[in-house]
Amino acid sequence: MPERRRSKLVVLANRLPVHRAGDGEWHTSPGGLVRAVLPIMKARTGAWVGWPGSSSRTPRLWTHEGVRLWPVAVPEREMDEYYGGMSNRTLWPLFHDAIRAPEFEPKWWEAYESANQRFVARALRAAGRRAQWWVHDYHLMLAPRLLRSARPAARVGFFLHIPFPPEELFAWLPWRRQLLDGLLGADVVGFQTHAAARNFSRAARRWTRAEGTDHELHIDGRKVSVDAFPISIDIDEFESLARDPSVIARSQQIRRRVGARRRIILAVDRIDYTKGIELRLEAFEAALTRGDITADRCVLIQIAVPSREATPEYMETRDRVERLVGRINGQFSTPGRVAVHYFRRQLAGDELVSYYLAADVMLVTPLRDGMNLVAKEFIACRLDNSGVLVLSEFAGAAEQFRRALLVNPRDFAAMGATLNRAMSLPRREAIMRMAIMRMLLRRHDVHEWADTFLRALERA
Ligand code: G6P
Repeated sequence: MPERRRSKLVVLANRLPVHRAGDGEWHTSPGGLVRAVLPIMKARTGAWVGWPGSSSRTPRLWTHEGVRLWPVAVPEREMDEYYGGMSNRTLWPLFHDAIRAPEFEPKWWEAYESANQRFVARALRAAGRRAQWWVHDYHLMLAPRLLRSARPAARVGFFLHIPFPPEELFAWLPWRRQLLDGLLGADVVGFQTHAAARNFSRAARRWTRAEGTDHELHIDGRKVSVDAFPISIDIDEFESLARDPSVIARSQQIRRRVGARRRIILAVDRIDYTKGIELRLEAFEAALTRGDITADRCVLIQIAVPSREATPEYMETRDRVERLVGRINGQFSTPGRVAVHYFRRQLAGDELVSYYLAADVMLVTPLRDGMNLVAKEFIACRLDNSGVLVLSEFAGAAEQFRRALLVNPRDFAAMGATLNRAMSLPRREAIMRMAIMRMLLRRHDVHEWADTFLRALERA
């Protein structure tokens, strides 16, 4: 391909932003990474290198809403080991405070190395010598070093969407030095929070030859900048959906259907053990048992997006959640008054916004989360500054939104008390809190996030 037609900004991520679902149609891929990075790439000329969601039918390159997509064909077995194994059963639990025991399997590591090489080989074909590379997330932590070896003068950025664990936990990893070395191939290594950036710098100084401070490392005569770049959302997109008359009408319909006088408590999560869905349901159940709230006066709507269903821990989480929903409804629902509405599906953007608009209280209570964009989406949709956000202290978003009702999701009593407080918060106080959070969010949307990161990359 001639140089001038090659893209300047090249994103490497495990998933392409769209995948073909069972119905044969292309759908937006799940998760925060795609929700945040897709609007960025739509607004620029660029290419996206990633897995198309299936090993059997790999399409050739194509363009989706202006973004050039370069699918990477990964054999099924390698995908199982690199993605299902190393990414989902080693790195994901380890980086989320080892909420589930991470497994350390040498053959997963080999597949991880080989898949990273595969993604980089494809990426090198997607871009000319002047390209800027932006590698995303824990699936591809070896890619920055591989790119650096192939193109020593290239600019390479890396952004981690999930937390980076404290040094003592990271030390468990048999391949800790290789992963750090992989990341140190980048010019800029970005994290969601200052804590994560600090954890990385400390691990790098401990386990590699890198020297320096929490923000600047030096290795092999090169400088690596390390910083927090809290990710965000495309606020305009959510605000315009929240203004759309058909979305507003749908939100009113939702309210009427569940009972116009009932308060709506909403939760939206991928079904993942890091999201704290069970503890949240148990707190809701306890509040009903105590009589603090009644199913007559309020309803919990839990939207649960299926995720990583080939992984046993995820199916166990789903089973536990569904048993709990059954138990709560069995005890507290009456005809026309279902205590918990549970939808196991991914909603389209406009439908999701209708729920954000219909809700009185939003519960975002993960046990550990890189950022959590659901919290930001809810705030973006509340154009009239109404609504109360209950937010876990362990979501990256809590670093920014001190005006949410912050809670420790493992503190059962605090969960109950915060739920009560959210339900009875004086309207004026709720409006004041939401107005401040909306102002903060307006200042830091996803375009500002990308500009800040890419400026840091240019300066590097
Ligand atoms: C999180 C990760 C993303 C991932 C998404 C969905 O947001 O940070 O990298 O794509 O979850 O998970 P999945 O395993 O389905 O890609």
